Amino acid sequence: MTTDPPVRLARPEDAAEIAAMSRDLIERGLPWTWRPERVLKAIRHPETNVAVARVDDELAAFGIMEYLETDAYLALLAVAPSRQRTGLGTEIVGWLEASAIAAGARRIRVEARRDNVPARNFYNELGYHEVAIRRGRYSDGVDGVVLEKWLRGAGEG
Ligand SMILES: CC(C)(COP(=O)(O)OP(=O)(O)OC[C@H]1O[C@@H](n2cnc3c(N)ncnc32)[C@H](O)[C@@H]1OP(=O)(O)O)[C@@H](O)C(=O)NCCC(=O)NCCS
Repeated sequence: MTTDPPVRLARPEDAAEIAAMSRDLIERGLPWTWRPERVLKAIRHPETNVAVARVDDELAAFGIMEYLETDAYLALLAVAPSRQRTGLGTEIVGWLEASAIAAGARRIRVEARRDNVPARNFYNELGYHEVAIRRGRYSDGVDGVVLEKWLRGAGEG
């Protein structure tokens, strides 16, 4: 894993930029649900990891992972357009996966819009398998695709 730019846990002052990136890159054309207050709550939540990478004092990428019993759920992930295809998404997910393993999670789940081919390719490339279609999952009627990655096998506790 590369360490430039370094990935770290988000701080409260990152919340506004994370929310703006979610609005522009993930929730584009949909109601904006990840507003700064919700992101701030996630940053402060003990069962949620919000990871960021900053370059030249600008948010370059972030990911939000929630822990649910033995599963982890990757709720949001985005890389600034000018930084995409440079390995930053892989780096953020790798950092969150390492945290999930350390926390004892068995499996990571994530959901992508069915029409988000770049994201589906990206997750497939990182070892996530498509396991279900959720019809009309998004408010504009687009289906969701559920992907998962097992971090440890059934016999590994
Ligand atoms: C999906 C996303 C997070 C990928 O981040 P990234 O930093 O560009 O990804 P990486 O550079 O680590 O790419 C790793 C591999 O994933 C695949 N991949 C990434 N983007 C791709 C694209 N646009 N088309 C096809 N494959 C892609 C490639 O195999 C890539 O390896 P390569 O560049 O050597 O070919 C980024 O495109 C993004 O932020 N999109 C907008 C928000 C979004 O859709 N988030 C996910 C849903 S919540």
